[in-house]
Amino acid sequence: MFRHCLFAVAAIVLLTGCFRKHAPEESTLKPVTAAQWVDDHTLSNADSVIVKHLHLDIKVNMEAKQISGSAMWTINNAHHQKELILDTYDMTIDSVIVDARPSGFNLDTPIRYLGSALHIPINDNSKFVTVHYRTGPNARALQWLAPDQTHDKKHPFLYTQSESIYARSWIPCPDGPGIRFTYTAQVRVPVGLMALMSAENNDVLNDSGVYRFDMPLPIPAYLMALAVGDVVFRGIDERTGVYAERGMIDKARWEFENVGRMVGNAEQLYGSYRWGRYDVLVLPPGFPIGGMENPKLTFLTPSIIAGDRSLVSLVAHELAHSWSGNLVTNATWNDFWLNEGFTNYFERRIMEQMMGAAYADMLWEIGYQDLQNTILSMGPDSRDTWLKLDLKGRDPDDGLNDIPYEKGCHFLRMIERAAGRDRFDKFLVKYFDAFAFRTITTEGFLNYMDTVLIGKDTALRNSLNTDEWVYGPGIPANCPRAGNELFGKVDAERAKFLQGMPPEKLAFIHWSAHEWLYFLRGLPDSASIPQLTSLDKAFRLSESGNSELAFEWYLHALKANYTPAYPHMEQFLSAIGRRKFIEPLYSQMMQTPPGQEMARRLYEKYRLNYHPLAQESLDEIVLGKK
Ligand code: BES
Ligand code: ZN
Repeated sequence: MFRHCLFAVAAIVLLTGCFRKHAPEESTLKPVTAAQWVDDHTLSNADSVIVKHLHLDIKVNMEAKQISGSAMWTINNAHHQKELILDTYDMTIDSVIVDARPSGFNLDTPIRYLGSALHIPINDNSKFVTVHYRTGPNARALQWLAPDQTHDKKHPFLYTQSESIYARSWIPCPDGPGIRFTYTAQVRVPVGLMALMSAENNDVLNDSGVYRFDMPLPIPAYLMALAVGDVVFRGIDERTGVYAERGMIDKARWEFENVGRMVGNAEQLYGSYRWGRYDVLVLPPGFPIGGMENPKLTFLTPSIIAGDRSLVSLVAHELAHSWSGNLVTNATWNDFWLNEGFTNYFERRIMEQMMGAAYADMLWEIGYQDLQNTILSMGPDSRDTWLKLDLKGRDPDDGLNDIPYEKGCHFLRMIERAAGRDRFDKFLVKYFDAFAFRTITTEGFLNYMDTVLIGKDTALRNSLNTDEWVYGPGIPANCPRAGNELFGKVDAERAKFLQGMPPEKLAFIHWSAHEWLYFLRGLPDSASIPQLTSLDKAFRLSESGNSELAFEWYLHALKANYTPAYPHMEQFLSAIGRRKFIEPLYSQMMQTPPGQEMARRLYEKYRLNYHPLAQESLDEIVLGKK
């Protein structure tokens, strides 16, 4: 894979539910007040027209690869605006109706990344604005899969990925994280397929092909989600369960056995789970990310189904977003660390509760390594290594790296250690409560922390070095480091191996996937073919069913040109679309001329298996397209 205001002012604005955009251009400077935030990634004026509810009535045409229908917005024009502006991207607008009367409208020429603003005239009493529309072939949120791109290879599949600013490509909407609304939906799909949304779901297939949904809690557009396919449901306990393609459901249900318990653990930490059910949906292999915290229904990559429950911390992460992100939401994508840093912190606290501190320390240390590597590759002084980002004029996905995640969660862990765990936990419970179903900026959080956690404790305030973390580059000197009870042993074994001890003699028997991961990450690039061969023979790493391990192993194989791993790597690249894995592997191939040839050959074969956003970046990496 990224975080101050007169708190009273912020509170008033948040309580009135408004989202103001009247701040001066200041995105590289510290803002003066949290009330003055600017979201550079929405063209909508839903800060001044209050948008309350969406009713979506759509039809999903799997053959034409198109969603068509209407989005009806319930608004309150208390601020006397002349128009409602919605975000759209590559969309055809067929007609607009305002309060039962046909209305004119204007669709602006598209702006790079942002799409086209849709202007709709309204008056002070306007209540309902209905947009009839059809999605375009370049709708960036949608991946339409042919049957052979699914696990079961029998039926087509559609899923959406709306974060960060792609909801606008399948719903004309105010697409900024600072704008929340409730929704209801009616979705018509081909008979025989099931439709699921980030809402209350039906767990059985119906024979009409029409599915109805209700999300009575206000969410931002980036949490709008839809999936359509031949999926079935298996319950875990009374409030959790798994959806997956038929041929995958048993494995998935086994892997996620502990998810019910996980929700209980999360609640013990930071207060009750407020969304009713927590279900997960396992997507077909091309899903470009690990997981997406769609409310009530987390979307997951099948690549975490390792067969040994070793990668379920990813579910803990998506679950944790039910507090950090979905309940308390970053106001703009420049405040992304508030979503992801908090969630990574929370994820590791859940894993500590479930598996013990030594296990959680492994996750912390792997995260710290990721942070170091990210800073190394971005440069120690890079502006993009501040927690508070400046993404104006850029694709918000530029912020999608380990800075918000790992620098963010290490910042919180540092505060936890300085304040004491008990005091920090109580503060977080209050925070989630105070800002529930609201939006907050980095400055808003820092001020809240200053008032509620720090208060008169000047020693604590001075020890944190908050400004250096938030408005400065690199890793601050007070960054905490995890204990190395388990990884210390791995270091010792790796050293023996590198000095020539045969792999069978290593004390690896009880190693978890994380210990293996750490072992592989610490192998030098200069590891020789005989060394890789002996490891592979002893532990069959080329055939690993654990995607994280397989990925690290294939990187080593490419660096050393260890060819016996290549057929397995090809299988991996054909079956997994997760960008975190495929982009570094193709980049590594591009380092040598024979590798380039292999990259082009494999990419030509498997390009269509990948998500359009992954195709965009791989077109650049492999084909040199800008
Ligand atoms: N919300 C993110 C995914 C995301 C962020 C998608 C920004 C698009 C834009 C999700 O919660 C996430 O962080 N997923 C990670 C998993 C995690 C364990 C770090 C991923 O997909 O790798
Ligand atoms: Zn996340």
